Amino acid sequence: MSCQFRVLPKGKGLVPPHKAHQGAVSKVHQLRQHIVPSQANRAQPCHSPTIILPLFDGRCGKFKVSVQACKSARVQECRGADVKRDHANAVKIKTPARIHACTYALTNALMEVIWMAAKTVRVAVVGLGFMGVTHYFNYKKVKGAELVAVCDVDPKRLAGDWRDIAGNLPTVTSGREDLSGLKRYSNLDELVEDPDVDLVDICLPTHLHADAAIKALNAGKHVFVEKPIALTVRDADRMVETAQKVGRFLMVGQVLRFFPAFRLIKDYHESGTYGKLRALHLRRIISKPTWAEWFLDPKKSGGAIVDLHIHDSDFVQFLFGLPKAVFTRGLIDRKRYGEAEYFVTHYIYDDEDLTVTGMGGNIAMPKFTFEHGYDAFFENATLEFNSRWLPNPVLYTADGKQKEVRLKEVDPYFAELQYAVDCIRKNEQPVLLSAESAQNALLLCLKEAESLAKGKPVKVTA
Ligand SMILES: NC(=O)c1ccc[n+]([C@@H]2O[C@H](COP(=O)([O-])OP(=O)(O)OC[C@H]3O[C@@H](n4cnc5c(N)ncnc54)[C@H](O)[C@@H]3O)[C@@H](O)[C@H]2O)c1
Repeated sequence: MSCQFRVLPKGKGLVPPHKAHQGAVSKVHQLRQHIVPSQANRAQPCHSPTIILPLFDGRCGKFKVSVQACKSARVQECRGADVKRDHANAVKIKTPARIHACTYALTNALMEVIWMAAKTVRVAVVGLGFMGVTHYFNYKKVKGAELVAVCDVDPKRLAGDWRDIAGNLPTVTSGREDLSGLKRYSNLDELVEDPDVDLVDICLPTHLHADAAIKALNAGKHVFVEKPIALTVRDADRMVETAQKVGRFLMVGQVLRFFPAFRLIKDYHESGTYGKLRALHLRRIISKPTWAEWFLDPKKSGGAIVDLHIHDSDFVQFLFGLPKAVFTRGLIDRKRYGEAEYFVTHYIYDDEDLTVTGMGGNIAMPKFTFEHGYDAFFENATLEFNSRWLPNPVLYTADGKQKEVRLKEVDPYFAELQYAVDCIRKNEQPVLLSAESAQNALLLCLKEAESLAKGKPVKVTA
């Protein structure tokens, strides 16, 4: 049987949480009181309840709710996984349900279930290159996301001919992709006017990040932008300020935070399981990024320090906060753009019992595959990881033992996008993708480049 719950006239509809942030009163709480089961259904258990709600964008949401018992209704039970939009664009949750109508009260938790289900985040990927297609395939797996549009200036990429896409890791596609089910834009200005897009995911060459992100934010979209956030602190400032002004999320893909092997250092560091983290050495090496010319031009990519090494600089400040100074020595590639091709940085902290270094560059010969890794020295353990020859970190403990730390296999690019979408749906601050933090990572890299150019330590001030 099914029973219906109707919104009484006073309930004007759900206001999305981000609008509540902008000053509008959230109706969710009030609305709760205006949703009542019809008399006929009050005394009976209800196996397939339907709740009809007007949604914030004017559509009528018709929900079949999956909750074991309303008292214990929990967000996890629904998660929107079974949500489908029908031809009238109404939202349906197609899970068998069981609610005892008699005891029914629309709890906050259930309200959240409905919210989560209703809010499918509609995504557009901008820039169908190496990262764009990585995101494209991952969004197909992200719960609560629907890929609705793509954008690229290159007609070939927009036609789904992705055979020439390459990067520092094996590409996720070497072939052709059928994009006929998606809206396709060759121009970002048109895309940001599309009302069916909630989240604009920017995978453009880095020198285009700032203007593209600001444009999308000003059009009322949430933005995910690939690392580095921008090429200058001023541009990053403009992006952060715009996001704050318009009340939308600006998220930056500092993806190392989602790599299980790196997350492990953070976990041990915070839990103190093996005592204090006293020394950390990070490394990141590739050959010259010849697959796309713009990477080699520091005016477009920031050069190897800003483009590549930012992963490690970010991780250092993610663990320890900004250092008081950096001292970088390295080699300059004088044959091309005169940019750093190999460098080692000391991150200098007040704590004299802490030594942190990062080594990186694109100095390796062409056949040398991408490598990142670390040595982490805790008081009572040493942790070692290298993506080329040690797929899982190895832990050496004070009792003379060593063991491989088998980590759950997680695609970090999927994990960061799932996290971004979850934050939008729950209206939770995306702290792991914080734009302000990504701005600090950029600042650190720029100070490292300055130190290398000057040949002496440089102070870091946020
Ligand atoms: N997180 C990571 O591990 C990682 C790895 C590689 C790259 N990245 C970052 O991702 C970003 C993109 O790098 P990539 O390797 O995908 O580059 P890419 O050159 O492979 O792709 C860029 C795409 O953008 C398109 N494009 C260029 N100008 C455009 C415009 N004005 N409008 C629309 N489309 C346009 C190009 O046609 C191309 O398809 C960079 O910021 C890079 O630093 C991150």
